[in-house]
Amino acid sequence: MQKIMTIFGTRPEAIKMAPVVKQLVADEQTKPIVVVTGQHREMLKQVLDFFQIHPDYDLAIMKKNQSLDQITSRVLLGLAPILDQEQPDMVLVHGDTTTTMAASLASFYHHVPVGHVEAGLRTWDMASPFPEEANRQLTDDLASLYFAPTDLSKQNLLKEHHPADRIIVTGNTAIDALQYTVNHDYHHDVLSQIPDDHRIILLTMHRRENQGTPMNNVFQAVRDVALADPRLDIVYPVHLSPRVQEQAHQAFAGIANVHLIAPLDVVDFHNLAARSHFIMTDSGGVQEEAPSLNKPVLVLRDTTERPEGVTAGTLKLVGTDREQVRQAMQALLTDDQQYQRMAAAQNPYGDGHAAERIVDCCKQFLTKDIM
Ligand code: UD1
Ligand code: UDP
Repeated sequence: MQKIMTIFGTRPEAIKMAPVVKQLVADEQTKPIVVVTGQHREMLKQVLDFFQIHPDYDLAIMKKNQSLDQITSRVLLGLAPILDQEQPDMVLVHGDTTTTMAASLASFYHHVPVGHVEAGLRTWDMASPFPEEANRQLTDDLASLYFAPTDLSKQNLLKEHHPADRIIVTGNTAIDALQYTVNHDYHHDVLSQIPDDHRIILLTMHRRENQGTPMNNVFQAVRDVALADPRLDIVYPVHLSPRVQEQAHQAFAGIANVHLIAPLDVVDFHNLAARSHFIMTDSGGVQEEAPSLNKPVLVLRDTTERPEGVTAGTLKLVGTDREQVRQAMQALLTDDQQYQRMAAAQNPYGDGHAAERIVDCCKQFLTKDIM
């Protein structure tokens, strides 16, 4: 039996690691050990509950308004005794959070090979997104096996001279996860408050580098559009970060057609996305999911590490300037041709079988059948 430890800590890592955990559980040759750092608490629990994942260890590190230093040091110190005790054959991490980077470093210090799920995403700009671009580059420096979601992410890894025989293009496990969640008889309370002839825009915004002025600019643009059209409803499940909560509640106080709601569990979020007219977001994961749901996305950032969605036509990078965001919203609301072009684009992130490929490659890597 090969002992494969998955380590993750936030909502998006959990959503995209869940299909891998499920696959490890189903495979008779692997013994999965699930460690969560608890970088997120409530937002992580929502995902674990839905996928019925019961962690073997929970470091429970989250503190209100935690700093990057606190997350990093607590993860490193918390993982050390677990790695010593369990001696896994391999560790799998996902993406680009501070949990991802610190868990890779802890594994490296304990001589455990790391497989990086969603390897090779790049903006090549250390300030955007911050600190995720550094986290993903550092993780790739420490990893032994790279699960690149697309050919482009493989090319990024090759440019950095990571060995070609350790890079496997698998597709993104976000697409695997969608197969567990989307259903057509979906109902949510927020939907019953919205008349059938209204259009819904789904909004999420949380990134550290957007907090403050950029987020405020976007919120003002959304206010402008919402106030001008009462037959439009903006649904914003607000991230639990106290800074984001404060900004959102200040900006949208008293606007009846902007609905600030608690973070949705993953089933609610995916189904609400599927019912929306379009999506506005600075999230990474949402950029991967939207093409499969045929929903245009206005990306509220200046850069994206997911240019495949821009090339395919689903994603439009609009930045955070108030007027630019307002115009981009108006265009999607009034220009049907543009809307249809974006909605009809092909999903470039895989076929929903990424987790199977990842687990197969781990087994081959550990038995030295490949590489
Ligand atoms: C983190 C990741 C980011 C990812 C995001 C996904 C880092 C540095 N950032 O950012 O890459 O896009 O998760 O959402 O790794 N909080 C709660 N309950 C929760 C979750 C968060 O109360 O379930 C609050 C806490 O006060 C916490 C704060 O939100 O201190 C910020 O959480 P943190 O994980 O530090 O940053 P995120 O912005 O969530
Ligand atoms: N998501 C969710 N509930 C919400 C908002 C988002 O389940 O209220 C899901 C979304 O479908 C995606 C993931 O969370 O799979 C994205 O997480 P987030 O935006 O927090 O992080 P990022 O992807 O930007 O790192």
